[in-house]
Amino acid sequence: MDRKVDFLVIGSGIAGLSFALKVAEHGSVCIISKTSLDETNTRYAQGGIAAVTYLPDSYNKHINDTLIAGAGLCDRKVVEMVVKKGPEQIKELIKWGTSFDKKPNGDYDLAKEGGHSEQRILHHKDNTGFEIQRALTKKIISHKNIITLEKHFAIDLITQHHLGEEMNRHKGGIECYGVYSLNLKTNAIDTILAKNTFVATGGAGNIYQTTTNPPIATGDGIAMVYRAKGVVENMEFVQFHPTALYNPGERPSFLITEALRGFGAILRTVKGKEFMHKYDKRGSLAPRDIVARAIDQEMKLSGSDFVYLDARSLDEKDVETHFPNIKEKCLSLGIDISADLIPVVPAAHYFCGGIKVDLTGHSSIKYLYAAGECSCTGLHGANRLASNSLVEALVYANEAAKASIKNISEIKEFIDIPQWNFEGTSHPEEMVLITQNIKELQQIMSNYVGIVRSNLRLKRALDRLEIIYNETEELYKKSTVSQKICELRNAINVAYLVIKMAARRKESKGLHYTIDYPEKLS
Ligand code: FAD
Ligand code: SIN
Repeated sequence: MDRKVDFLVIGSGIAGLSFALKVAEHGSVCIISKTSLDETNTRYAQGGIAAVTYLPDSYNKHINDTLIAGAGLCDRKVVEMVVKKGPEQIKELIKWGTSFDKKPNGDYDLAKEGGHSEQRILHHKDNTGFEIQRALTKKIISHKNIITLEKHFAIDLITQHHLGEEMNRHKGGIECYGVYSLNLKTNAIDTILAKNTFVATGGAGNIYQTTTNPPIATGDGIAMVYRAKGVVENMEFVQFHPTALYNPGERPSFLITEALRGFGAILRTVKGKEFMHKYDKRGSLAPRDIVARAIDQEMKLSGSDFVYLDARSLDEKDVETHFPNIKEKCLSLGIDISADLIPVVPAAHYFCGGIKVDLTGHSSIKYLYAAGECSCTGLHGANRLASNSLVEALVYANEAAKASIKNISEIKEFIDIPQWNFEGTSHPEEMVLITQNIKELQQIMSNYVGIVRSNLRLKRALDRLEIIYNETEELYKKSTVSQKICELRNAINVAYLVIKMAARRKESKGLHYTIDYPEKLS
């Protein structure tokens, strides 16, 4: 079924839904989501959303913390914009029905996480993302200008490349006209045409063996934009969260929020010794790149598969009030966090790089905007400060909404777009060809492109990746299009970008640490 809308939104996390609510007052909106509306990375966010709320905190302090974490690669203008505009956008989130925890005196109960010099994280217990997703989804489904299409998988952006000889008509750069989308209920491929397309497809943690991201995070939007010849940058900066629960076989890994360290929990080796002070004077609350590398180092020194997080000295009642989900999850595995040590391990968590956008969220492709984890705004630089991504998504969704509302009146007509034309006819005979390649890809990335890298490891990763790239492209050409093969292709694309950009960077910087250009750990 073909559709024409003013605004097409690909993705239903915080970026997609908040953008949709803003533009819906100005035109028709279609949101597509590859599973259900509420299955997103957003839903799993634990710690919260960073914003300056009360004294003694200040914009300058939040700006400085962000710049320090970003290791010199943040864009100062962007940092100032997000920090200063964040609180206003969060007020709107609250107006839309999101609830954040308060203290008995009515003030917000602000938490602290690694790299923050003040308490500034608004949160809803230890499942802030679930609360945000709940409130936004409720608001979206009752909006008369918004159509939501669940189980619709965006395959490729439509640009002049799909117009054949017509392409020459548009010499002013690449333009986006919408998306080809696979309806997973009927297997039909729909053409969705839009005056503006907003990519909000989230991250790509699933290119690694161990990740905190749910299975939807396969980097589809980044790969689509790259295939459409849009600019993607900073992909070498993959953030590993220091403390995912060590529970072999569980995927995604369950996160133990940094807010627990903000509350006083500390890291210990398998022998029970504190170690973070050896690496950074901020100890267990140093920025994530430093803590994840220190844990990696301690695991290598001891030969163990995990280290411990120790929350035993914290007040049991407080822990129960603030971290009920973590308490329950650990208990289900026989770990009482008030009496036992919690085994933890770093896991791929967040992509600082992505689709390059300007201050209005506009990409290098005309009529194409992006926000949230799939985008690269310049806020995070070489390492994201904890809890800065939800606020970034909100601010950029708002900027992109303002810019795209302005331009819908400029765009008068929809161009005639051919139907999806693809030669492949057969179903892949064996699913194992796809599942095996995804496993191999995850092994390559975890073994050679993880927390600590080297030129040799990156070269090896690229050589191995080329083999599965060629196999997958061959299979894709013969096969009817399916979600699994598209996700595999996208994940390979994203892995390629991470390796290429990592190999190009001849220094250790933030999340990109290489033994060929070492930097002191502290
Ligand atoms: P997402 O919320 O991931 O949404 C992506 C959407 O795109 C989904 O609807 C998906 O179905 C859709 N999609 C993807 N590909 C396609 C396709 N091909 N076709 C159609 N639809 C598609 N950040 C913080 O600031 N604070 C925190 O406390 C915090 N905690 C976190 C805890 C965990 C466990 C995780 C995993 C992340 C956490 N983060 C946190 C990071 C933050 O949650 C994400 O960066 C943010 O939610 C991303 O939002 P988004 O809107 O960009 O994408
Ligand atoms: C956490 O709660 O530790 C995650 C916060 C984040 O990723 O920003």
